[in-house]
Amino acid sequence: MPPAATPTATPGKVPRHLAVIMDGNGRWAQQRHRPRAIGHRAGARAVNLCIDFCLDKGIEALTLFAFSSENWGRPADEVGALMKLFMNALEREVDELHRRGVRIRFIGERGRFADAIRARMDEAEARTAGNGRLALNIAASYGGRQDIAAAARGLAEDVAAGRLQPGDIDEALFDSRTALAGLPAPDLFIRTGGDHRISNFLLWQLAYTELWFTETLWPALDAATLQRALDDFASRERRFGLTGAQVSGAQNGMTSA
Ligand code: IPE
Ligand code: IPE
Ligand code: MG
Repeated sequence: MPPAATPTATPGKVPRHLAVIMDGNGRWAQQRHRPRAIGHRAGARAVNLCIDFCLDKGIEALTLFAFSSENWGRPADEVGALMKLFMNALEREVDELHRRGVRIRFIGERGRFADAIRARMDEAEARTAGNGRLALNIAASYGGRQDIAAAARGLAEDVAAGRLQPGDIDEALFDSRTALAGLPAPDLFIRTGGDHRISNFLLWQLAYTELWFTETLWPALDAATLQRALDDFASRERRFGLTGAQVSGAQNGMTSA
């Protein structure tokens, strides 16, 4: 459905790219006196809800933080439960996502996953590579600092090999070596679970992203909460370092004074 069908959002101010930290699974389960793994399972349902919402609103790209490079340090049984859930999701959800025109990509250190999971990730990417309705990026074993370090390493290797001069390195070239190269930077960032921090998500890419936080725990996510984030986004003035007059002049088609 095109964004114009959204009753409450200002037309034209739907984010092109939404980035989400899906946080609060463990607390959701603990509130119910259940093991944390149950919270992760419930969280997988919220992932589907979020994808449906983006498809419905005509959002072009969705980047979900599923597992950070630091999350490997959690107790082995929790990491194991999460790996099982990834594998199940890869087995169960890819067909339907493909049918709906979703292009799936995984960002992060894929080498740390078991062979079977890696193979499924490769398969899902290859299978959906031609889709253009929604670019879905799953950040798994991802860290923003690691992303930046990998880009720097690649550029340094090119300089050392004589393929590149240090003076050639600018923001655009650096960006082209990061995990989300080729996509517009996220317009809107949402974190559920009540904490107000980035937790090593997309550090380079979030430079001018609008940030939105909610107390709602990820498994309790509903479309109304996502709509509140979109409505708030539509009401904000993004200035990118300019003055309000410059920005509103540009929006009215006037040249800035
Ligand atoms: C987010 O929920 C999922 C992952 C980090 C894998 P948490 O597991 O961090 O849940 P809380 O924050 O402990 O409630
Ligand atoms: C961020 O949540 C990572 C994911 C949601 C995948 P965490 O629960 O790991 O973040 P902290 O530890 O609260 O900063
Ligand atoms: Mg957490």
